[in-house]
Amino acid sequence: MTGKGIERGLTNYGDRDFARYLRMSFARSMGLSREMLSRPIVGIAMTPSGFNNCHRTMDELVEAVSRGVLAAGGLPRPFPTISLGEVFLEPTSMVYRNLMAMDTEEMVRAQPMDSVVLIGGCDKTVPAQLMGAVSANLPAVQLVTGPMMTGRHKGERLGACTDCRRFWGKYRAGEVDRAEIDQVEGRLATTAGTCAVMGTASTMAIIAEVLGMSLPGTAAIPAVHSDRLVAAEESGRLAVQLIDKGPRPDEIVTLHSVENALRVLMAVSGSTNAVVHLAAVAGRAGIRISQERLNTISDETPVLVDLKPVGAGYMEDFHSAGGVGAVLREIRHLLHLDTINVTGQTLGQRLEQPTDWIDSKVIRPLSNPVSPVGGLIALSGNLAPGGAIFKRAAATPELFEVEGRAVVFENLADLAARIDDPELDVEANDILVLKNAGPVAAGMPEAGYLPIPKKLAKQGVKDMVRISDARMSGTAFGTIVLHIAPEAHVGGPLAAVRNGDRIRLSIQEKRLDLLVPEAEIRDRLAGVKLPPAPPRGYRALYAKHVTQAAEGCDFDFLTAAPPSDKA
Ligand code: FES
Repeated sequence: MTGKGIERGLTNYGDRDFARYLRMSFARSMGLSREMLSRPIVGIAMTPSGFNNCHRTMDELVEAVSRGVLAAGGLPRPFPTISLGEVFLEPTSMVYRNLMAMDTEEMVRAQPMDSVVLIGGCDKTVPAQLMGAVSANLPAVQLVTGPMMTGRHKGERLGACTDCRRFWGKYRAGEVDRAEIDQVEGRLATTAGTCAVMGTASTMAIIAEVLGMSLPGTAAIPAVHSDRLVAAEESGRLAVQLIDKGPRPDEIVTLHSVENALRVLMAVSGSTNAVVHLAAVAGRAGIRISQERLNTISDETPVLVDLKPVGAGYMEDFHSAGGVGAVLREIRHLLHLDTINVTGQTLGQRLEQPTDWIDSKVIRPLSNPVSPVGGLIALSGNLAPGGAIFKRAAATPELFEVEGRAVVFENLADLAARIDDPELDVEANDILVLKNAGPVAAGMPEAGYLPIPKKLAKQGVKDMVRISDARMSGTAFGTIVLHIAPEAHVGGPLAAVRNGDRIRLSIQEKRLDLLVPEAEIRDRLAGVKLPPAPPRGYRALYAKHVTQAAEGCDFDFLTAAPPSDKA
């Protein structure tokens, strides 16, 4: 094998022989024989954390990857990077995705490994690892921790986190009491693994497989299924083979594989967050996703997968229904078949293999789609000149063509303080507007799922048009416009919206407009005062360098330049 192994990237002491001798000495202090140290090395980027429930199975996954590496003649070397547990990070895990991507890229490059297996699962971890892997461009295999199984409550299945929100909505509306919500709290997330619905983690696992960075057929294997460990062992074995033959990430993540990932994102009605993450991963390869292309792909691609938050099932159903392979077969005619995955196999070759049984209730045939068009679209208009995202599959069709009065919240604190105020001047056909929750202002938290004001919720209002520069959880639903760019904080037109203004949303025209004369909008924007930037540390770096949502919210100094080179 051709790997440089322990001699890769020697520490710089000004004497290479001394550096080699010292490294061998310290490596042997870990109890590794000279025979082991002569093997090619597979790094295993592991991400266990007492603050990350989704990675609870990390130890056994690392053990299984190591087993595969050893069996194939390599030396496995697990190493930690930061881990991002979605609900344990303030203000939002999104702020730290780029930090994890940098950690992954730099540790893969700096340490002596010939290839790497990246183990992640929770929302931001898989995009962070893919971003790092593409930039480091060492042979790499993505392994996900896999989705949770569902829990049970009074005869119904529960899965994080669509049912978390459903029950919380019932609690806010007074339909569920404190005792029951406490009971539900213990029944929503009952096994190891990532959220059980088609949220961001599930969508990113699928995207990793469709891009070609994970082994075929592995995205949806439940976290607690024995096949998850078999996939880990195979990933370790494959990582050794990659050292000699490749392919490397820059051969896998191409314009064609990114477009395939976008297609599948539409067909599974995946998370809105995945658009941002895919843009960031693609950006690392110098590929830019245009809003026009996204909309064309969405309009051409039906939703075939009937999972929550849009439909009925859970990820365990998706896996047993046939998983990613079944979806790929249904939309084969829309895909680029020349892309390759980590095994070197083309997508066309993969799809020529015989398929297992497909449960057409969960993964519908093309002739009977959940929806004839894709789940997500990009919006433009004078309120979103840099674009916005709308999950039409999770929205109320009666609210697709509306004009309404703006009820404005200036920032997250203002929203928290006033949304449930009984005196709030709000009606069901108003449009709720949240400003200053974008990437620069607030790290773009999942605050775009503005709660229905309590007084309307109690009247039975279930959905309203809500618009913001924030994100929303992939497990959420509603008529919600997200990722408005440029964000209010950097002077986007959203900053000019005032209470009582009229706003028009047209899904047919794919537009979001503020019905105020352009000169008036300009005058208002000229008077907007920006709060001071964070004074120090990572948050200062973040605010200075984060890009807007359409560019993936990556740091401007980490994207490959020029971005249009490969498009
Ligand atoms: Fe980790 Fe949902 S909290 S995937």
